[in-house]
Amino acid sequence: MALRSLLALAGVAVVARAADNSTCSSFLNATSQADLDKIASCGTFDASLSISTDAGVLTLNGVQNITGSLSILSSVDLTSFSAPTLSQIGGTLDLEGLTILDTLSMPQLTDLGGIKLVTLPALEELQFNSGVQNARDILVSDTSLKSLEGLNLSSVDTLDVNNNKNIDDISVAATEISGALNIAFNADSVNVSLPNLAWVNNATFRYCGSVSMPQLQKVNNSLGFVNNTLYGLQFDNIQSVGSLTISSNSQLRNASFANLTTIGGGFVIANNTRYGKIFGFPKLKTVRGAIEFQGNLTQASLPSLEEVDGGVLIDSSNVFNCSSFDAAHKKGDFHGDKYVCEGKSTTISTKLTSLTSTASDSSSGSNSDSGSNASAAATTSGSSSSKSKSKNQAVAPVAAVGTGLFGTFFAMLLQLV
Ligand SMILES: *[C@@H]1O[C@H](CO)[C@@H](O)[C@H](O)[C@H]1NC(C)=O
Ligand SMILES: *[C@@H]1O[C@H](CO)[C@@H](O)[C@H](O)[C@H]1NC(C)=O
Ligand SMILES: *[C@@H]1O[C@H](CO)[C@@H](O)[C@H](O)[C@H]1NC(C)=O
Ligand SMILES: *[C@@H]1O[C@H](CO)[C@@H](O)[C@H](O)[C@H]1NC(C)=O
Ligand SMILES: *[C@@H]1O[C@H](CO)[C@@H](O)[C@H](O)[C@H]1NC(C)=O
Ligand SMILES: *[C@@H]1O[C@H](CO)[C@@H](O)[C@H](O)[C@H]1NC(C)=O
Ligand SMILES: *[C@@H]1O[C@H](CO)[C@@H](O)[C@H](O)[C@H]1NC(C)=O
Ligand SMILES: *[C@@H]1O[C@H](CO)[C@@H](O)[C@H](O)[C@H]1NC(C)=O
Ligand SMILES: *[C@@H]1O[C@H](CO)[C@@H](O)[C@H](O)[C@H]1NC(C)=O
Ligand SMILES: *[C@@H]1O[C@H](CO)[C@@H](O)[C@H](O)[C@H]1NC(C)=O
Ligand SMILES: *[C@@H]1O[C@H](CO)[C@@H](O)[C@H](O)[C@H]1NC(C)=O
Ligand SMILES: *[C@@H]1O[C@H](CO)[C@@H](O)[C@H](O)[C@H]1NC(C)=O
Repeated sequence: MALRSLLALAGVAVVARAADNSTCSSFLNATSQADLDKIASCGTFDASLSISTDAGVLTLNGVQNITGSLSILSSVDLTSFSAPTLSQIGGTLDLEGLTILDTLSMPQLTDLGGIKLVTLPALEELQFNSGVQNARDILVSDTSLKSLEGLNLSSVDTLDVNNNKNIDDISVAATEISGALNIAFNADSVNVSLPNLAWVNNATFRYCGSVSMPQLQKVNNSLGFVNNTLYGLQFDNIQSVGSLTISSNSQLRNASFANLTTIGGGFVIANNTRYGKIFGFPKLKTVRGAIEFQGNLTQASLPSLEEVDGGVLIDSSNVFNCSSFDAAHKKGDFHGDKYVCEGKSTTISTKLTSLTSTASDSSSGSNSDSGSNASAAATTSGSSSSKSKSKNQAVAPVAAVGTGLFGTFFAMLLQLV
């Protein structure tokens, strides 16, 4: 009895081994088509596969499933790689430094751990005909891809698309991005569309011509638009962001964040030369970091603002009316120890506390008008650094009275909420 079951067990073990011997479960470092053909009957290749070859064309036949990663690295003669049966890669599909690869065909591929496509200057399209549905981390850098067609992702951790000079359309179906979204240095004025995205942890856009995320409600960490050529920003469903930076967007005319109530960190709008009127934040109530507005600003209105926990620095090269900010400061809404609001031919208001080096840096490099310098220096007594401004400025020191009272009032309000 016992002997028979032992023999039966041994038989099972032998069968299992024949179907899945070490060829199908050991790391393979392939250099040729012959190496790949050794695993063609594996079905599932239960290890990682690394390819480094001087062949021009390679085909991975037979394998449906790679449980580890598939890497093809530094193979400068490879023009074409196909995996006609491959549907799943447990780890990362990692292609790097394939300088003349122009064909990447994986018609069945739907699931993988991650995608790394780096320095593939001849690759113009992904032949992922079934549409990749699941991949957590995606890096597409320095390719000639014209779009991300073939990636049909619903949820990703990171998506980084940078330095792809031919990509003129970046459309991603994802509904959530739990890590970072980075779109930078692609084709000039690339149009970016994430029509379903509801939340993203942090997102940065550079050198984009337009960014559309109509469903976006929340940015858990940072949201930044830097050096883009876009004309407008419209994110009317966003209710909260961790921090918001809009800087050096030379074509920007307008921004609308109609539902934004809370910025958890800093709020920076700087050096957008054509964006002069900041009106698009009608519901913004709380900024937990600092506000820094710089550039060619004529008007800024934050009608619902009740609380800024950091400093407030408004420094315009244009004629700017500080009165609403002065009033908010006087009322005690600004809890930081720094408040500066200044523009050309208008008032400068500073709280009688130290102006940090940031404030003085931002005003340096301009022609000086000694009269106004003197008045600024004279009236910001108690400041730790001297300011030199070219702008014609009058100084209206703001009484330090009230801050403590209103601070207490806000603390009470916050406790009530
Ligand atoms: C794979 O083989 C190539 C060429 O023989 C070698 O340069 C590389 O170090 C090997 N990689 C691994 C991970 O064994
Ligand atoms: C292991 O499996 C592969 C693929 O099925 C097969 O080609 C090879 O002959 C097998 N080797 C042994 C020792 O069974
Ligand atoms: C691939 O292998 C993994 C691990 O063995 C398994 O969970 C998965 O179901 C396999 N997928 C396919 C399509 O066979
Ligand atoms: C993308 O995936 C969705 C489901 O997540 C599916 O309905 C749709 O047909 C897919 N589109 C393409 C082009 O594969
Ligand atoms: C982006 O869209 C605009 C308007 O549809 C179009 O004029 C522009 O050419 C697009 N950008 C690129 C890089 O295709
Ligand atoms: C994204 O947010 C995380 C915190 O969740 C932070 O550690 C990381 O530095 C951020 N990345 C960028 C590019 O801002
Ligand atoms: C970000 O916010 C969304 C929506 O409120 C939430 O579901 C998600 O857990 C948050 N993610 C992180 C990384 O905090
Ligand atoms: C962004 O634009 C600013 C102002 O035009 C420029 O000084 C800076 O070098 C640009 N940054 C990058 C990374 O191109
Ligand atoms: C603000 O969000 C609400 C839902 O929370 C929505 O009904 C409304 O249309 C949004 N407002 C704007 C201006 O988009
Ligand atoms: C800017 O956007 C606001 C809010 O959407 C709108 O009321 C205003 O007319 C726009 N201004 C311009 C110049 O487009
Ligand atoms: C805006 O431009 C000024 C002067 O060129 C520079 O000092 C400052 O760092 C810029 N600010 C941002 C946020 O880019
Ligand atoms: C500053 O804005 C004004 C409009 O308020 C515009 O006429 C001027 O050209 C802008 N300056 C620069 C340097 O873009």
